[in-house]
Amino acid sequence: MKISGSLLSMRNDLENYINKVNECSLVDYIHLDIMDTDFVSNYSYSYEEIKTIVEKSKKPIDVHLMVKDISKYDYLLNVNNIEYITVHFEALDSFNIIDKIREYKKVGISIKPNTDIEKIYDLLVKVDLVLVMSVEPGKGGQQFIENTYERINKLKKETEKRKLNTVISVDGGINESNIKLLDQKKVDIAVIGTYLKKVLSN
Ligand code: DX5
Ligand code: ZN
Repeated sequence: MKISGSLLSMRNDLENYINKVNECSLVDYIHLDIMDTDFVSNYSYSYEEIKTIVEKSKKPIDVHLMVKDISKYDYLLNVNNIEYITVHFEALDSFNIIDKIREYKKVGISIKPNTDIEKIYDLLVKVDLVLVMSVEPGKGGQQFIENTYERINKLKKETEKRKLNTVISVDGGINESNIKLLDQKKVDIAVIGTYLKKVLSN
């Protein structure tokens, strides 16, 4: 299982933490959580912070867009070290945006904890990654929602049935104990924020 590190809780000392993540062999990706005060109530990151992250990161970046107006972030399509751009299923008016991202990057679809996982099945053929939210999107430091395991099982069954190599990523509340279970469930990428800060501070 790969690790994608979220820096949300490290914003007050961003450059220092990016350097630490660059040196940390446990981390495979930097997870860039973008929030707009509309799709979720919080705001991250400022344009300057995004610039710092993409310029200083030595790891490939996986973008998580928790925003309504996805087109505002079109400039990310041309950033070299971004590997995945993930949009929320709940924010989509049409699926054109997925086709557009696909022309430039690997594309992901994210799903909130209370949205039926079955709703994204018909989109699986169009995306490279599914980001299963294990907390309500919008902030770090929340508790992992237990029925996420059931959602992962259902999703895995469906991708296998359709013979797809969809990357399954899980985001929110992942810590030293539940990370093992996610690995056993053959999750491909675990997104960690609070736990990563702990590891980097030791
Ligand atoms: C939540 C974000 C997560 C978050 C993860 O809305 O999408 O990526 O930063 O942080 P922890 O690991 O603290 O839940
Ligand atoms: Zn995220």
